[in-house]
Amino acid sequence: MKRSTSGDVAAEDSADEPAELAWWKTGVIYQIYPRSFQDSTGNGIGDLAGIIDRLDYLNGDGNQPLGVDAIWISPFYPSPMADFGYDVADYCDIDSLFGDLDTLDRLIAEAHAREIRVVVDYVPNHSSNLHPWFVESRSSLSNPKRNWYIWHDGRADGSLPNNWGSPFGGPAWTLDPVTDQYYLHQFLPEQPELNWREPALAAAMLDVLRFWLDRGVDGFRMDVVGMIIKDSEFRDNPTNPKADPTLPPDDIFGRQIHSFNEDQDDVHVTIREFRRVLDEYPDRVAIGELGYSMSRWIKYYGDDDDGLHLPFNFRLMQMPWEAGAITRSVEKLEAALPEWAWPSYVLGSHDAPRLASRIGTAQARIAAMLLLTLRGTPTLYQGDELGLENGVVSLDQLQDPQGIRLGVDRSRDPARTPMQWDAGPHAGFSTAAPWLPISADYREGNVATQQEDPRSILNLYKQLLRYRRAMPALTAGRYETVTNGLDDCLTYRRRHLDEELLISLNFTGEERSLSIRDDRRASIGLSTHLDRIGGVDLTEFRLRPHEGLVVEVSP
Ligand code: GLC
Repeated sequence: MKRSTSGDVAAEDSADEPAELAWWKTGVIYQIYPRSFQDSTGNGIGDLAGIIDRLDYLNGDGNQPLGVDAIWISPFYPSPMADFGYDVADYCDIDSLFGDLDTLDRLIAEAHAREIRVVVDYVPNHSSNLHPWFVESRSSLSNPKRNWYIWHDGRADGSLPNNWGSPFGGPAWTLDPVTDQYYLHQFLPEQPELNWREPALAAAMLDVLRFWLDRGVDGFRMDVVGMIIKDSEFRDNPTNPKADPTLPPDDIFGRQIHSFNEDQDDVHVTIREFRRVLDEYPDRVAIGELGYSMSRWIKYYGDDDDGLHLPFNFRLMQMPWEAGAITRSVEKLEAALPEWAWPSYVLGSHDAPRLASRIGTAQARIAAMLLLTLRGTPTLYQGDELGLENGVVSLDQLQDPQGIRLGVDRSRDPARTPMQWDAGPHAGFSTAAPWLPISADYREGNVATQQEDPRSILNLYKQLLRYRRAMPALTAGRYETVTNGLDDCLTYRRRHLDEELLISLNFTGEERSLSIRDDRRASIGLSTHLDRIGGVDLTEFRLRPHEGLVVEVSP
């Protein structure tokens, strides 16, 4: 497969040269939640210098690197931390908690020296209420920045402008006594929404992209990017008749169909503007956080490669962990994507329960093999390579505003507990007590211990990542589901030129016997158990409980 000058992917068999795809198509992205990755100052909170100290773990010529190609760093901007950095008080600086611009420049240089691209978070939907733009905007009805945020009168009867709610609980409007108007905040009241229909605001926010691109970042992960444009008439959202009746009374958002507060058709005008800015620079990537039905979601790629490069695909996180459901989802995506659009897969993030807690520690190995062998760009969340489970955060340790407002079972803290580096004090994360407790299992579940164990899940991830780099079939190759006679095991083929791999995954805790109509010579390249390689008869072979195999098939 070959990339044409326009950046499109040429048809597979039109090239006999090695694959030459954009880095964000072949690469694996690793999400860093900076508060919880590595503390270098001894205050119990991770920072940018801490990330630099750990780059050798991620890639480069150091000892036993994991082997990822890019990091996406959650927000490090100045922030009052009402939503831990997703409330930005200055889009063009670094919070002193995390370092300063010089540290970020050093991070970019050190990462690039190790062939790690740096993707930063861009939060276009809302700023902090302490952002100077909002401070100005709220000061009077006639302030020049009034229209940079979304202000609305209440209804004639004095009630809220409409019925929209916040995913963090409560209504999406707050009355500001200064001017007696409401402002919109789909998240916390401390996160007022920017008005992208105001050209001056849009221009200022596009300049923010240029500011970071000029500093050398390789792209952006755009936070809740489908929400930035709302219905221009601010119509009420319909009630969702299928909403879970046990939702907390305050969860107005959860009981509505979001017809008017997000995913409006004209959002794509702004997305195309983002893309035009990125295209002013070579080789940059636009990733978007959004989750809509396939037909709506796919529009975020643009009409003709003029939208986001990688709308995040969260589907495998949101469905039952079953071979059949996963197959259907992958096939639906493969069928829906235009030739030029590139798939992506995400299995964990700072917003969701830990992967190993959702599907079990044994299946976490299957998830690793699936994520790193499907066609598309994988994003891996820090600590998932160790198989970390949800941390235990007691009520009095609760930090996440979503948990504080909607109940402890909605808290995202358990997925945000610090990275576990070694069996020493505070798991090597910090010399001080960390902002969230270290998990009790850190003495075994840590990088140093797992590096020494040849069959650890960390070593599985490393081998999968190395394998992926060595085998163009896993990056450039086509995807095809293969019938294996069982509905609880998934088998698929990845093929590029004359390189062909079969991946077979056992989603059960029992041994399974599979049969594939293929009598060619085949050899196991990798087992999730990391204990076998060598010849296999595809017409009859076994998968042990929770075992996955990558099998190399001779042409
Ligand atoms: C995104 C972020 C999440 C944050 C929210 C509001 O979903 O991933 O952490 O709370 O946006 O900014």
